[in-house]
Amino acid sequence: MTLPRILTRYRAQIEEGLLNSLKGKSLLYAILRYHVGLEDERGTPAKNMGKLLRPSLVLFTAEELGGEMARALKGALALELIHNFSLIHDDIQDCDPTRRGQPTVWKRYGVAQAINLGDLMQALAVTQALTVGKEAMSVLMEATVEMIEGQGFDLDFEGKAVGVNSYLKMIDKKTGALIRCAFRMGGLIACVPSGVVKDLGKMGKELGRAFQIRDDLLGIWGDKVITGKPQGTDIRRKKKSFPVAIALARASGEEREILKEVYAKEKILAQDVKCVIAVMERLGVRSLAEEQIADHLDRAGTWLAKIPFSQRGKEEMKELIDYMAIREK
Ligand code: IPE
Ligand code: IPE
Ligand code: MG
Ligand code: MG
Repeated sequence: MTLPRILTRYRAQIEEGLLNSLKGKSLLYAILRYHVGLEDERGTPAKNMGKLLRPSLVLFTAEELGGEMARALKGALALELIHNFSLIHDDIQDCDPTRRGQPTVWKRYGVAQAINLGDLMQALAVTQALTVGKEAMSVLMEATVEMIEGQGFDLDFEGKAVGVNSYLKMIDKKTGALIRCAFRMGGLIACVPSGVVKDLGKMGKELGRAFQIRDDLLGIWGDKVITGKPQGTDIRRKKKSFPVAIALARASGEEREILKEVYAKEKILAQDVKCVIAVMERLGVRSLAEEQIADHLDRAGTWLAKIPFSQRGKEEMKELIDYMAIREK
């Protein structure tokens, strides 16, 4: 699958910047470089980084709107460090043994050290953000607060039956906040009028929703080799991911009984996961989710039309929007 230009153009400079931000000599920094995929378990340089979506969006937005690129890079790095802080803690919270196809930090170094490493990543992010300026710094901190609140909802919802609206509120925070922040920060660095920053945020919100719903789908129907994560763990952890929220909302009769029974269990087993997926398939959950994704991406496209990107910038953004519906990792 060819990657959208926005996700390839800035990779080299983000990678170099991250290496610089995490260049400390002690063991902790080596582990952080391992987490972001700059080094393997033995400290040998590696290329196992994520998509770098958020920093790429900061750089793209700033460039399109005439921002100073050296400043934009600092903001982009701060945001990517916050994202990685969130992932280190998220993997503890979700008990996930792998991320990006390799053992998670807590799995290799224990929960206590992983908490510490997440904290360090956050402090490095703040240090980096301070070099960008007060406005960018406060947008990033607002987004961080929201992301953490969203993680709180996500965990709280594990034990509850929640509807689609609560789900959307949760993902707007846990995932939407940092994606919105990427666009807004790019706009702020380019000193665009506040109306444009608002529209950028609206586009980010729709993209963030599509992004998380796709993430939830990949967690059930994605190719394990490509996504690098075991399938069905959201079901086992009783996560209220989109397919689960939709299934709970749609199921009736026998299907509803099956879901109720499984979700009442203390421990969900492999055969229960299979059962839940079978119910989802009967209810057409997958295509309902794909429709939702398409809907949010459409809305993102509507906001895009209002944003003063160049013609080429709009085409590139459209390419990224389209990719969000089909991405496999
Ligand atoms: C993972 O984000 C966490 C979510 C918000 C779904 P990404 O899918 O952007 O993670 P990487 O950085 O590309 O691995
Ligand atoms: C990601 O949530 C949101 C944050 C890390 C803030 P998930 O738990 O759904 O993402 P993955 O699937 O582990 O990447
Ligand atoms: Mg997780
Ligand atoms: Mg999570």
